[in-house]
Amino acid sequence: KQKLDIVDVVGNYVTLKKSGRNYKGLCPFHSEDSPSFMVSQELQIFKCFGCGEAGDIFAFIEKIEGVDFPQALETLADKAGVKLEKRSYNSTLDAQKKVIYEINHLTTSYYNFLLTKHNIGKPGLTYLKERRKLTDQTIRDFKLGYAPEAWDELYKALTKRGYKAEQLVAAGVALPRNNSQGFIDKFRGRIIFPLTAIDGKVVGFTGRTITDREPKYLNTGETAVFEKSHVIYALDKAKVAIKKLGCIFVEGQMDVISAHQAGITNVVATSGTALTVSQLTIISRYTKDLTFCFDADSAGEAAAKRGIALAEKEGFNIKVAIITKEYKDIDEFIQKDLASAKQALSEPIPAYDFLMTTAVKRYDKRSAIGKKKILEELVADFSQVTNKVLLDHYIKKISEELDVSEEVVSELLSKKTSAQKVNFAERPTLAVVSGKLPKNSSEEYILALLFKAPIDSQNSLLYKLEQADFTDESLQQIFSSLKKQLKSTKQFNIQEFIATIDQNLQEQVKELYLWDLGNLPEEPKSFAQEIQATFARVRRDTIQRELKNINAQIKQAEKEQDAKLLKELTKKFKEYSENLNTPYAEKN
Ligand code: UTP
Ligand code: MN
Repeated sequence: KQKLDIVDVVGNYVTLKKSGRNYKGLCPFHSEDSPSFMVSQELQIFKCFGCGEAGDIFAFIEKIEGVDFPQALETLADKAGVKLEKRSYNSTLDAQKKVIYEINHLTTSYYNFLLTKHNIGKPGLTYLKERRKLTDQTIRDFKLGYAPEAWDELYKALTKRGYKAEQLVAAGVALPRNNSQGFIDKFRGRIIFPLTAIDGKVVGFTGRTITDREPKYLNTGETAVFEKSHVIYALDKAKVAIKKLGCIFVEGQMDVISAHQAGITNVVATSGTALTVSQLTIISRYTKDLTFCFDADSAGEAAAKRGIALAEKEGFNIKVAIITKEYKDIDEFIQKDLASAKQALSEPIPAYDFLMTTAVKRYDKRSAIGKKKILEELVADFSQVTNKVLLDHYIKKISEELDVSEEVVSELLSKKTSAQKVNFAERPTLAVVSGKLPKNSSEEYILALLFKAPIDSQNSLLYKLEQADFTDESLQQIFSSLKKQLKSTKQFNIQEFIATIDQNLQEQVKELYLWDLGNLPEEPKSFAQEIQATFARVRRDTIQRELKNINAQIKQAEKEQDAKLLKELTKKFKEYSENLNTPYAEKN
């Protein structure tokens, strides 16, 4: 490892350009137009902030050559002119994951074989082809399968190939029998939808009953390779189209498959969860344009509203594609009237038009009470909107729609949003603008900035920041180690720093150091502004937490009727809230 330089090794495959102290280039592991693949020469590591691939030279060779560790070791030893002696390797978790991936792969092939080639799969094939109108090509593309209506077909097949019962349980495809000894298959009498990660590897499964059993859709539980809230169904197939066309989120697997079969390929779904921030973070690496196309029922409407609120916070441009009332979901819409369905998907309405229409539909807009109700709902819906142009547009629109004066609408809407008046803490930082990080990781971002800041601004920032500004325990530790280190040195050195800190913090520090700050560190003025804005965000969050805290104490004091304490606390609360609204909040 010491004989090779990661910049050379990676440079054989990727064109790298210097960016500040790191190098960057187009990621070789996923398709992208702007580089998010970072290499640090100082730390001899790489990370792609787009797809998450990361590691040292060995990890790089394993991944790019598609080989395992021993082979990567041989390749690199060759290159470095080192002679290898045989020894065994292996971390238990990696070994465990490897087995699960193998099992998932075999399970996918096995169920696909039963569906497409075996008599036992007939009911599944009839269901998919006749009831759901899927073609052979679609079944192949999505690697669909059929788990027969039997107890342990898969279990028998895979144990015969040498897998142990515990391994099958760990992969989530088998279960211990309830009342007696032995094991059974998890999926029985179900169409199998393999769930794939971004690299196409199967991480888990969803099974749809074809005999009206409950639950209709059954999902793999969490395993060492499967975290439900992170998986986006069909993203591996949709990612290229999503980059070009934006992302359409639909409710379920069948909706996705129908859309892809109809040639609409920028479509994905969550699998068995409500939309999560992690999923949005993943999507934001590909696009900022999001269209929700949820079922035409009230659950679908609620899901859209929830999705809009979440995605608005993450800075997406959000639209909603409306499914004509006579169809239950986009799958049915596509099956029954493809032309109109395509049109609905290509002409989504802005999210706020959608919110307005749904609120107006719900009450009688001609009555005074109705107007009041509609406005109340809209005030809540619009509380996330900070853009003045957008706000102004909707104030006019709502005022027309409800026949209420613009002043009244404006007053109501801006009252709710005044707390979010643009101040320093709201200024989007570089990281937020570039979509490289979720908005809530200011705590991490400020450390990433600190590592590369000039020593005097490191010192002044360290003086202002406090332990309490970090909610995450390991970030707290990193912060205090950094503070200690800087006290005793005139020259900050990242390698030395990493060597002195706790082992379990090292990975995190390396990752923070790899964050691409572009040329920021070479532009003192912009760098200072970035630090200032990020600090303001961090401090605002701290104050908000403290306000919550004081609020709880106030409630307690009220209960105990402690007038003196109550007065003190109220004063404190007021001071803190004022701080919150000053552009550059510093704690007193
Ligand atoms: P729906 O009940 O709307 O089903 O659930 P659907 O997508 O229209 O399915 P078909 O057309 O009847 O086959 C929407 C999504 O919610 C998840 C599944 O991902 C499903 O596609 N779901 C639903 C579950 O995870 N579990 C369930 O029991 C039901
Ligand atoms: Mn459906």
